[in-house]
Formats: sequence, structure tokens, C-alpha cells
Amino acid sequence: MAETFILITGGCGFIGSNFVRHMLAKYRYNVVNLDKLTYAGNPENLQDVEKDNRYTFIRGDIAEKSDLEKVFKLPIELVVNFAAESHVDRSIIDPDTFIKTNINGTFQLLEMAKKKNVKKFVQISTDEVYGSLGKEGKFSEDTSLAPNSPYSASKTSADVLAMSYYKTYNMPVVITRCSNNYGPYQFPEKLIPLIITNALNDIELPVYGDGLNIRDWIHVKDHCEAIDTVLHKGKEGNVYNIGGDNERTNMEIVKLILKLLDKPETLIKYVKDRPGHDRRYAIDGAKIQRELGFKPGIDFAQGMEDTIQWYRENRRWWERIKSGAYLEYYKNMYENR
Ligand code: NAD
Ligand code: TYD
Repeated sequence: MAETFILITGGCGFIGSNFVRHMLAKYRYNVVNLDKLTYAGNPENLQDVEKDNRYTFIRGDIAEKSDLEKVFKLPIELVVNFAAESHVDRSIIDPDTFIKTNINGTFQLLEMAKKKNVKKFVQISTDEVYGSLGKEGKFSEDTSLAPNSPYSASKTSADVLAMSYYKTYNMPVVITRCSNNYGPYQFPEKLIPLIITNALNDIELPVYGDGLNIRDWIHVKDHCEAIDTVLHKGKEGNVYNIGGDNERTNMEIVKLILKLLDKPETLIKYVKDRPGHDRRYAIDGAKIQRELGFKPGIDFAQGMEDTIQWYRENRRWWERIKSGAYLEYYKNMYENR
């Protein structure tokens, strides 16, 4: 057990950093974090584990063979692929990097993992691959794939590729498709941290369209538990949906944050809708509960209170991001690694 090396890609991002911390705390694995440090990757997210001698950070790109060759000099047995461009709005403005990282990057990583005979390859996907729901129904693992944004289309392509490596090469691939996450270290361009940090600064809260789009929210710690479960117990060639069983309209979320921060609803500003905006996501999490015994445990009201408290206590973290100053700082810091 002490000798096992796990590769976590995208470990300096929101979910990846929570997962790195989770794995180091719970297991004796050697954790290798490969991250390109895009605008969304922030090594500060893992400052508390940097000195752990079971933790190795390598700056690099999952789409670059030479970077992967360097990483796989280590005896990697398990791979969890979080690395991705992850923001829908950015994918609408500039899809290029989404195709490079999410599709080509996953392909290069699969190739290397195949060559090195890894024991498990977990592809972190999203419920967005299923497209949009009407008022009724939920996404099951058998729902057909119908992505609507360049982001979700690129994630769908990665899923299909990953599954083809299971079918064709018998590679031990599993795929997780989770709903919207919230919690500490989420980059403040996504709805919940954007609304919290804007409200803390008393600036306008942009709500797209009529504010009635629905997402199914899960705390990032529950998501990490679910990935841990799939990594250790998931059956090869299977897809597992992960949800919070917690559907909310965007407006409900915004109003809850304002209430918890004691800020006025006059901060809300309706803005032009996102093109191709998916109306509703909802996950049927029955399979992972029935087959692997996972069920989310964090109560949404409590999870939101804790998250807001985290953003209150870590103002320095998000103010630097919002100002863009940290990008230059880390570029210099890691330039010569
Ligand atoms: P994030 O944007 O916060 O982090 C992405 C990380 O990947 C960053 O650290 C970035 O530097 C790194 N990265 C980007 N391109 C890379 C490349 N080419 N090579 C190496 N590293 C690279 O994203 P997140 O919200 O933590 O999401 C992580 C994963 O989970 C993604 O695959 C995303 O599709 C999936 N997911 C996210 C959510 C959510 O609600 N955030 C829900 C379901 C699934
Ligand atoms: P987001 O956090 O970008 O996640 P995703 O689009 O991947 O589900 O957005 C969540 C919801 O919030 C989505 O319906 C779009 C909406 N939204 C706003 O209304 N205003 C905003 O400023 C943002 C970023 C999102």
C-alpha cells in the first residue's frame, strides 16, 4: 500500500485539490499531481500538503507526450483524470483549449496509461454530457449523450474515447458523471463562488435569463468520497452517476446566499442569457448507491453555510484571483521548475 503511486491530473483546481487532500489524509498512497497551472490551477490550494513527502507536484500538460513520459517514469498504478477546461461560458467564447485539453489531452493520457498497464483509470466526467432535461425525469447512466456546449461536447468526446479503450484494449476504465459541485477552493467564475464574492464586495450579481434554470448541487467533499468509492470498488467499463439529490433554481441559490450574508436583493441583476443554456440537470444516483453503497451525506443548508464561512475567512485567496495578480506571481514562481 505504501508503495502505490496514484496520478491525479488537474490537482491544483477546485475538485482536484480537494481530492488530493482527501487521498493523502485517508490512504498511504504516493500522490503525484500533474497540472498545467492554467488560470484555474492554483498551487496555493495545496499549500498545506506541499511538505508531505508522499506528495509530488509536476507542472505539465496532459496533452504533451513529453510531460507524460516524465510523470510515468514514476511507477503509476492508478490514474484519476480531473484535468480539463471546465467553464461553459469560456467554451462559448474560445473553444480551442477545450478541444486540446479535454479531448486530445484525455487521448494522450489514455495512450500512456495503456502503455504502462495502469490498474485503474478514472475519467472524471460531468452530467452535462446528457444535455438538458424538461420538468420531469432524471439522468440515468443509460440516458443518451446529447451535449449542448463546446465544453460538454468535449467532455462527451473524452468519455466515448475512454470507453473505447475499455472495449478495444480491455483497459480498466471507469467514468464518473457528477452534478454541479460547490465548496472551498472553487474558482470565483462559477455561480456559487461568484455570487458569494460579489455579494461580499457589494457588487452586482449577474443572473442569466430568467434565473429559473435548475442544477443539482453536491458538496465537493461528497463528490471526493464518491470518486474514492469508484476508484476502489467501481467495475471496469462502467459509468457511475453522482448527484446531490438537491435540485435548485439559480435564483434560489442567489437568494439563499444573500440571506446568509445579510445583503439586499437589490444587488441582483438579470443579464442576457447564455447561448444554448441547458434548462435543467438532475441526477439519478441509484446505481452508485445500490452497487457501491455511496450516498451523499452533506446537508445543503449546512454545506452552504460552511462554504460561505470559508470564503469569508479566505478573502485574500479570492481577491488575488479576482485581481489577476496571482497569475503573474505563479508564472514567475514555476517558470524554471
Ligand atoms: P477547475 O477548472 O477548477 O480545475 C481544472 C484544473 O485542471 C486546473 O488546475 C488546471 O490548471 C488543470 N488543467 C487544465 N488544463 C490542463 C492540462 N492540459 N494539463 C494539465 N492540467 C490542466 O475544474 P474543476 O471544477 O475542479 O473540475 C475538475 C473536473 O471535474 C473537470 O474534468 C470537470 O469537467 C469535472 N466536473 C466538474 C464539476 C463542477 O461542478 N465543477 C462537476 C462535474 C464534473
Ligand atoms: P456554472 O457555475 O457556470 O455551472 P454550469 O453552467 O456548468 O452548470 O453555472 C451554474 C448556473 O448558473 C447556470 O445555469 C448558469 C448560471 N449562472 C448565472 O446565472 N450567472 C453567472 O454569473 C454564472 C457564472 C452562472
